[in-house]
Amino acid sequence: MGYKNLVVDVAGSTAVVTINRPDKLNSLDADTLESLDRAMADLAADKRCMTVIITGAGDRSFSAGADINYISSLKDGNDAASFVDRVHAVFDRIERMEKPVIAAVNGYCLGGGCELAMACDIRIAANGAVFGQPEVKLGITPGGGGTYRLPALVGIAKAKELIFLGDHISADEALRIGLVNRVVEPGSLMKEARSIAERINQNSPIAVKNAKSAINANAKGNGSVERSAFVSSFKAPDSKRRISSFIKRSRTGSRQ
Ligand code: COA
Repeated sequence: MGYKNLVVDVAGSTAVVTINRPDKLNSLDADTLESLDRAMADLAADKRCMTVIITGAGDRSFSAGADINYISSLKDGNDAASFVDRVHAVFDRIERMEKPVIAAVNGYCLGGGCELAMACDIRIAANGAVFGQPEVKLGITPGGGGTYRLPALVGIAKAKELIFLGDHISADEALRIGLVNRVVEPGSLMKEARSIAERINQNSPIAVKNAKSAINANAKGNGSVERSAFVSSFKAPDSKRRISSFIKRSRTGSRQ
């Protein structure tokens, strides 16, 4: 069975998973999250595949985060909690997967897109990529691991600055603070990601798998606290107002 909004290509020992909703900047709606979950489960079981690269279709975006229309369709706190559970399940699957996962980040990498990249083991960014956790501007809080994976990567103070301000940062700044591993020219992004994957593939799969699980065991974050924070902010009237305002500006094309 195929994957909606996702293209999976296994060549040699490396699989490339491409989020394929470029007209919506590869934002993550219910179908895309479901496809990503299934694709990662399939690749975990696929004996041909040793390493996975995740990227975004087109040159504008890795992923601009959770689909804001999808968030807007959540009816109440229970729906919001189920949404966070679903996102956590997909991103945790990536983090726990026994094979290394590399994010090849082209363009916008915001909100849930940045959280997806952070659930991967290694992040390579194209020069020109843009990172950020802008959720508070929409009246919500990060709900895909941002409250624990971001501080683990960049430190608590920098994570608070990024999350409280909701600012966008450049690929070079992301490299400087430790959010990404390398920055390359856009035309070299996939070549670099493949080259890293191929070098990992030459090493012992069992040793790499054990190293990944040992590193992760010492960096476990608290998803349940993040879930409560997301539900609480989602339920406040401020989030409805801010989310409707994003959707309205999108419809009228008047976004700054
Ligand atoms: N969810 C749903 N749709 C999104 C989206 C998201 N997270 N991000 C972008 N899109 C859609 C836009 O609505 C627009 O769709 P339309 O052409 O049907 O109107 C399309 O993608 C292109 O985006 P647009 O905003 O027109 O591009 P831009 O270059 O002016 O701005 C961004 C790009 C990334 C700065 C802007 O889209 C943005 O701020 N997106 C939201 C990022 C965010 O807050 N993510 C966290 C969500 S919890």
